[in-house]
Amino acid sequence: MNVPRIKIPQHWKTTTVLYWKNFKTWWLHLWKNFKTGWFHFWKNWHYVKYYYYNSSRHLKKTRKYHRKLRALKKTATCDILTTYSNKNEADQMEFYKQLSKYYDILFPLNIQSVTFIKERLTEGEILDLAAGTGNHALALAKLGFSVTATDLDENMIKAIEEKATKDDVCISAVPLAMEQLEEIRDKQFSTIICLGNSLVHLNNINAVTKALSDIHNLLCHDGKLFIQIVNYDRVLKEGITELPYINREKEQVSFRRSYLHKDQGIIFKGVLSVGEEILENEVSLLPITSQQLVDLLASVGFKNINLFGSFKGEPFELNSPAIIVEASNE
Ligand SMILES: C[S@@+](CC[C@H](N)C(=O)[O-])C[C@H]1O[C@@H](n2cnc3c(N)ncnc32)[C@H](O)[C@@H]1O
Repeated sequence: MNVPRIKIPQHWKTTTVLYWKNFKTWWLHLWKNFKTGWFHFWKNWHYVKYYYYNSSRHLKKTRKYHRKLRALKKTATCDILTTYSNKNEADQMEFYKQLSKYYDILFPLNIQSVTFIKERLTEGEILDLAAGTGNHALALAKLGFSVTATDLDENMIKAIEEKATKDDVCISAVPLAMEQLEEIRDKQFSTIICLGNSLVHLNNINAVTKALSDIHNLLCHDGKLFIQIVNYDRVLKEGITELPYINREKEQVSFRRSYLHKDQGIIFKGVLSVGEEILENEVSLLPITSQQLVDLLASVGFKNINLFGSFKGEPFELNSPAIIVEASNE
């Protein structure tokens, strides 16, 4: 299950435990310093509680967790519910930390994706989830939209901020995992995008369902969601093990990408060559098929779910390069 990536300072934990251990001291302290004491206690307790309630140790023990899992197993059309939850988060972060420096050389903005979204979006604020170096966020901000970009990786967030400053556009860049969307539940967006195969970085179908449900809640009336992932219908059917090799001769950067099919998941192996240097890394991906994605979106309340096979707007087919989804919350 998802362990939120917040680090709780030790002194918060200690104060909270101390408060609990000694009820008298706790009460006296609150009484003496009513305003600040209460606030500090509440803040600490909230964080510790939040951390514990989301920790795998806790969740795996609770009946609620197992009940929810059984219910989901019954409704989900997918059998990859829990099996793929054991991936190493540190590896996951290391992968993009390494890639962030060269990301824009390897994956420059596909302007068609911006046109596709611009033609279909609902006017208002945009949220770019797992935004990477912020290519889409920046392009949309340059068109005059108000954009918030989030990503798990701090280096990606830094890259967005630097690019926004350089291009003199205003973007709110926030380090936030897709598993933590409830932290911004006070905000509402008219359009949410999650592009570049980001969604499949979530650990398992449970996490995807939760993220989609959070996204649904973050959308305002008539809001729209756009998701783009690799066409895993094809990858799974044809047992694809290699993605096209990317070679940027001018910059002397190349990226060899392979898929190792393991259980019901995929290990995405990347070999990045920068001049003479070779960096190897891997990350686990959850291959979500088009039908699974549509079912999950419908199960959390999305309506008018349309599938496309590319940003040219072609309909989705087994041979399409991507699965692109447009869905609205009303
Ligand atoms: C392939 S990149 C796509 C970036 C961007 N959306 C694009 O289209 O260029 C995937 C991004 O997802 C981010 N990511 C991976 N796991 C994440 C998570 N659990 N929550 C938020 N972002 C995550 C990575 O840091 C990386 O920037």
